[in-house]
Amino acid sequence: MWGGRFAEGPAAVMREINASIPFDKRLWRQDIAGSKAHVAMLAARGIVSGEDAQAITEGLSRVATEYEANGVPVRMDLEDIHMVTESRLAELIGPAAGRLHTARSRNDQVATDFRLWVRDAIDEVEAGLVALQGALVARAGEYADSVMPGFTHLQSAQPVTLGHHLMAYYEMLKRDRSRFADARARMNQCPLGAAALAGTGFPLDRHMTASALGFDAPTDNSLDSVSDRDFALDYLMAATQVALHLSRLAEEFIIWASQPFGFVSLPDAYSTGSSIMPQKRNPDAAELVRGHAGRIMGCMTALAVTMKGLPLAYSKDMQDDKPPVFEAHDLLGLCIAAMAGMVETVTFRTERMRALAESGFATATDLADWLVREADVPFREAHHITGRAVKLAEEMGCALAALPLADLQTIDARIHEGIYSVLTVDASVASRMSHGGTAPAQVRQRIAQANAELGAELGRTGS
Ligand code: ARG
Repeated sequence: MWGGRFAEGPAAVMREINASIPFDKRLWRQDIAGSKAHVAMLAARGIVSGEDAQAITEGLSRVATEYEANGVPVRMDLEDIHMVTESRLAELIGPAAGRLHTARSRNDQVATDFRLWVRDAIDEVEAGLVALQGALVARAGEYADSVMPGFTHLQSAQPVTLGHHLMAYYEMLKRDRSRFADARARMNQCPLGAAALAGTGFPLDRHMTASALGFDAPTDNSLDSVSDRDFALDYLMAATQVALHLSRLAEEFIIWASQPFGFVSLPDAYSTGSSIMPQKRNPDAAELVRGHAGRIMGCMTALAVTMKGLPLAYSKDMQDDKPPVFEAHDLLGLCIAAMAGMVETVTFRTERMRALAESGFATATDLADWLVREADVPFREAHHITGRAVKLAEEMGCALAALPLADLQTIDARIHEGIYSVLTVDASVASRMSHGGTAPAQVRQRIAQANAELGAELGRTGS
């Protein structure tokens, strides 16, 4: 390719360290699409003849058919997907192939290919997240009234509903999707035509290639176009945030599946047994979702560190942008699919959840609130009175709702039998009617909205 300038070929190790074809072959579809858009524009501007452009376009289609059938040949001597494709094109159509690279550099070529790839990756993640949200909302609807202990510090705090708990993840994923949508909108500008770094003297129509490739516009600075990978980092940061959210849900499933909790039974399809302990049923899929979050974050860190301190414009370091994005994307796809599968099929042990919600004095706040409301006791004093009631229940080994009225009245004479209406877990959750609260009525309302949001989403992606 640069034989004119070089007398000797590369050292074997140079070939090895230089080549990106083992991984960037994944960009072949985007590379072919970018080349077709480029050559169509070159012909439209009279930079190459219509005849050559047609030969190149047909040749590129043949290369694509070969890749589809046999995969991309890993030619280390040809370095990367751009050179492998161009060299195969030359074999197929002869010297006209040499005109394709007019007014283009691999620098703007790879920046374009990779943006196209990341854009597709975002669309895949989006579809996966919508499916996972759908699974969460469906299960939340089944359990909108099911009481479970809500925790802070992993200590029983106040009763909540399982539907409410599941819907918390719906909200997280909703924000995650908006991060991907932001990233997609921001990156949707076409670098093609920036050439090596300075633009080109050829009379290009960059708007034409941008729109042919589905970009909103061409990029506005040629140096920036070939030297930034913030679009890939945007993807990785958004992916990291999803992975962190999924990791928390995975962790909850792991805790809930443990014998002391017994809140869920994870399906066989997402568990493994032990080769030595016949009774074991391990939550491996959930553990791997938790583990993969670390790797995805590692990919994000890898690219951030690669980019840090690079002078403008392109440096070969940037060839290392692709492996972390590919790895993170593959891992994230697995995590989302595995979580969706687990959410759809997990068995919730609602009696066990209810029993624990009732045993942890989780309605203590309701007792205190009742004193404030019904007896006009200042909250701090009500807190103190309630603390004594909890201590008594602990001593008597019973739930707050089972404390005899006489005993409660020795703690504070203002207590009357009306108190019992707030001491059950069902009364407690039903009372939490504040916007976003755990009351079944609130949860059902949010589920209905979520279904509408997802319905609109599916309608949009389907059309
Ligand atoms: N394989 C290279 C990459 O992925 C393509 C760009 C090479 N450009 C260059 N000037 N060597 O970054």
